[in-house]
Amino acid sequence: MPSATDRYDPLAAEILRDPYPVLAELREREPVFWHEGMDSWGLTRYADCVRVLRDHETFARDPRRTGGTVPVPSLSVQTLDPPRQSRVRSLFMSALRAQDLGAVEERARLLVLARLGELAGAGPFDVVAEIAVPLSVAVVADLLGVEAPPYGEFAAVSDAIMRSMDGGLNPALVEPGRVARRQLSDLVDSWFAASARPGLLARVRQATVRDSDALTRLYVKNTARVMFQGGYSTLAAAVGNAVHTLLAHPGALHQMRGRTLLATGADELVRFDGPVQGTTRTAVRACRIGTVHITPGQKVVPLFAAANRDPAAFTRADELVLDRTPNRHLGYGWGPHSCIGTSVAQAGLRALIAALNGHPARPAAAGEGVRRRTATMRAFDTLPAVLLP
Ligand code: HEM
Repeated sequence: MPSATDRYDPLAAEILRDPYPVLAELREREPVFWHEGMDSWGLTRYADCVRVLRDHETFARDPRRTGGTVPVPSLSVQTLDPPRQSRVRSLFMSALRAQDLGAVEERARLLVLARLGELAGAGPFDVVAEIAVPLSVAVVADLLGVEAPPYGEFAAVSDAIMRSMDGGLNPALVEPGRVARRQLSDLVDSWFAASARPGLLARVRQATVRDSDALTRLYVKNTARVMFQGGYSTLAAAVGNAVHTLLAHPGALHQMRGRTLLATGADELVRFDGPVQGTTRTAVRACRIGTVHITPGQKVVPLFAAANRDPAAFTRADELVLDRTPNRHLGYGWGPHSCIGTSVAQAGLRALIAALNGHPARPAAAGEGVRRRTATMRAFDTLPAVLLP
């Protein structure tokens, strides 16, 4: 039988199209597998993934705990571990709780509705460029309280950063990613320098302005960048995947007309075909996962995409079940590094679905989408659709 590395090539065309059959096979035959290309142990079982994500003492996110380095601009809530990370994280969480997400959702719904109005009757269009990108830039800018940058320009910078997440598989992506991070950093610096508009950014800045700890101020600024870029790119990918799933499941959109199914359905779309395929942690001490011995310094990759279809954790795991409750999927991660923007992303997805349902035209596929050649993020480069009268 071919090795797990040969079977699971995250950039192979058939995996980009549909990773779930191979992940299911691995989960059954070799749930903890060594992957040469990722130089890591891949984890496919829900229980193993949750265990690693929870146990931050054994499994480090911060590379400095295992002898690595982190460039200063990358020191953020994402690269630090508790206890250092906790203060920055709770600053952002409480600033987020103070925002009116209902208003953000409503403005996003109106934006999508207006775009649908422009697109209806005008033939096929690209869901990514016309809906996913503007919706996601607008939601994140609205949340932070900053002027939305020009959509196309921002998408290009963000794409370079997103692609560089696969730098381990393709080192040529690292430098363009570094340049794009610099550009984004300048943009975030200008927001911090500008007068405050109400929003999340003003709130965290206010909370840290008198903070004697210069490091905390640095982490906060870097985290603002992650919120903007990471939040935008993940939401845009999620919107593309969600529309693709809805187009392939006739009737699903219509069922989500009611508020209850709108909420559970928006979450199920992320479980069913979410954007973040996995994450990496490094073992700081020897341990065992299943029958496999992990040595200190080895990397482990909880594969959310595999865990979210684990039949041991979800009934009818390969089906889209819009009223799935509870739905403890890992699409937003788990534990101390779980997604800070979950409620924002949920609001953005609900806005998308409500707008699609609120417009008289019916969306339909207009050809095959082109999957983006990225391993960490499952996204579309383009997704053609049409609005039928
Ligand atoms: C549907 C859209 C989204 C999905 C599926 C998603 C998913 C995720 C996942 C899986 C993680 C954890 C990664 C890990 O453990 O390494 C994460 C972290 C994070 N997300 Fe999201 N995300 C989404 C949207 C957003 C938005 C809109 C924002 C901000 C406005 C955001 C902000 C963050 C931040 C700051 C982190 C890092 C948290 C930490 O390391 O403590 N995300 N996200």
